[in-house]
Amino acid sequence: MELIIVPGYSEVGAVASDIVASEVARDHSLHLGVATGSSPLSLYEALVERHASTWDYSKLRVSCLDEYIGLPRESEYTYRKTVIRTVLRPLGVPEHQFTSPDVWNSAPEVAAQKFEEFLAEHPVDLQIAGIGTNGHIAFNEPNSGLLSRTRVARLSPETRAANARFFPSPDVVPHLCVTQGLGTILNSRMLLMVVSGAEKSRALASAVNGPLTAACPASIVQMHSNAVIVADEDAAREVAQAVWA
Ligand code: GLP
Repeated sequence: MELIIVPGYSEVGAVASDIVASEVARDHSLHLGVATGSSPLSLYEALVERHASTWDYSKLRVSCLDEYIGLPRESEYTYRKTVIRTVLRPLGVPEHQFTSPDVWNSAPEVAAQKFEEFLAEHPVDLQIAGIGTNGHIAFNEPNSGLLSRTRVARLSPETRAANARFFPSPDVVPHLCVTQGLGTILNSRMLLMVVSGAEKSRALASAVNGPLTAACPASIVQMHSNAVIVADEDAAREVAQAVWA
């Protein structure tokens, strides 16, 4: 596990985008797992600004970590649409190369199973992830199984409240989702976590310094064989000095 600490949010994006670009340079058709939320947005923007003219992203295979249940397929709030808007279009990746849980054409449990099977057939080379204020990763809330697989899960009240800022009103934030499990995420060849802001400092310190525990799902980063965390100074301020060295 490597922890890189940089001054602020835009530097998190710049440094993380350099890591993504160097992986793409080695393999133009790698499988990039992307995350939603605001943390990775500076990464996606930096990827376009710093590297879009250098590397061809049009052959990437892209997947995402999770999807809400209960939103219409064409809703702008689905993670599918969010990834199309923030990643695929800016980088020029065709939509047919993107796979996410298809919660619209089958029962959610079936969509979860199919997505898990897809990931088993096409392992993620580089998975980008953020972290929730309660230590969640994807939508694996505290007390998710450390080796859990893709499944239907319930959002905690804390996560619904945190994600309400993306919706027109807090009441319309879905309660359920399909999420990659913690064991599924651990199958990725490389895990790149991006973390910004003081509100994430407790969760980040628990993830990297605390015990490996389902109480902090992001602590699975300690079990990943190739994990890099890029955090800004505010997010890293509670991380023990020993890890900074
Ligand atoms: C959502 C996503 C997570 C993301 C988290 C943090 O709950 N399912 O994948 O890491 O939000 O989002 P933000 O970066 O906006 O704080």
